[in-house]
Amino acid sequence: MSISKKVKRVMEEGSWIRKMFEEGVKLKEEFGENNVFDLSLGNPVIEPPEEFRDELKRIANSDELGTHRYMPNAGYSDTRIAIASQLKSETGLNFTENNIIMTCGAGGALNVVMKSLLDPGDEVVIFAPYFVEYIFYADNHGGMCRVVPPDPNFLPDFDVFEKIITPRTRIVLINTPNNPTGVVYSEKVLARLAEIIHAKENEFGIQISLVSDEPYRKILFDGLDYPQVFRYHKNSVVATSHSKDLGLPGERIGFIAVNPSYFCVEELLNGLVFCNRTLGFVNAPALMQRIVANLQTITINVRQYESKRDFMYSNLVDIGYEIVRPQGAFYMFPKAPINDDVRFVKNLGKHRVLVVPGSGFGLPGYFRIAYCTDDETLRRSLDGFREARASFS
Ligand SMILES: Cc1ncc(COP(=O)(O)O)c(C=O)c1O
Repeated sequence: MSISKKVKRVMEEGSWIRKMFEEGVKLKEEFGENNVFDLSLGNPVIEPPEEFRDELKRIANSDELGTHRYMPNAGYSDTRIAIASQLKSETGLNFTENNIIMTCGAGGALNVVMKSLLDPGDEVVIFAPYFVEYIFYADNHGGMCRVVPPDPNFLPDFDVFEKIITPRTRIVLINTPNNPTGVVYSEKVLARLAEIIHAKENEFGIQISLVSDEPYRKILFDGLDYPQVFRYHKNSVVATSHSKDLGLPGERIGFIAVNPSYFCVEELLNGLVFCNRTLGFVNAPALMQRIVANLQTITINVRQYESKRDFMYSNLVDIGYEIVRPQGAFYMFPKAPINDDVRFVKNLGKHRVLVVPGSGFGLPGYFRIAYCTDDETLRRSLDGFREARASFS
């Protein structure tokens, strides 16, 4: 008896992040925890804001009964009202609590959305480099991913995008600010994506959902504003979480927001509630729902990530790396000095620097740095980046 052949195969082929984690464990045993510079994981170093702790204490000390019970599968009404009113003020669109479903993080949200929308064989268009879990999430629900390559700035190749959409396309899935590149789609990029989607909807007589995966929506640098996807396509859905903007990835709290003008909005919302339940999530964690209801305008100190971005970007460019300057999230995606990104990443490992090869994000020839770690680790990683670069020049 063994685990399923399919799961075994994808695990063996699959996760570079897991492989780097295992490599890291070995290196840490050999050289000591403090002498390995682990930039392979997107686990945010910045602690949740003070307001989070205050809310946690307030709720823990409350005598209110029933706070740990089941609630409607969409989540608490108060929390959904708070999120809807924030979205209404940001977009000018008529969001109500009925457009919001509370979920177990953005990962839970994406699975609920895909299960609700996909029939077997339906296609999900994604953009390289991509968060690799998308492939597995789509497969969980019978979907197949079709991949659009990037231009040199990690923006979509629109010519390929136009050709890749077929009558089986149900979802176009974007992620901005992006993991692994840190690139943020501008209003112009969103407008062009929406224009192509509309043309294809008309050509094939179908409706295509633009699903925006946005766990980094508040982690923006250089004074950028958040480009709202809802303004560009009526059949749009946002899947997001507070894993990064409140520093709560272990607490599994996120939400789905459906555009009030979505073509079958009521049916979709009922489907999402059903899928949240039957995927076994049942509901998002009760305590976290109560807390985030009062934190919709609060964010961790984004300037701290911005200064880590500045430090790593300027030092690595000085060393000779080619990098598209990230404008959000907490990743960068430099070009590997040789075509073989896996070989280069292994060489960085010899210098005790752990990163993830671009092959793990569907784009060989690059590697991902997660700089959401402490400043000392970032500073001490630079010698390794310098020596690895020198060994291939
Ligand atoms: C692009 C992207 N989408 C989704 C997720 C999942 O986020 P969550 O922890 O909220 O499930 C992550 C987590 O790193 C991510 O980087």
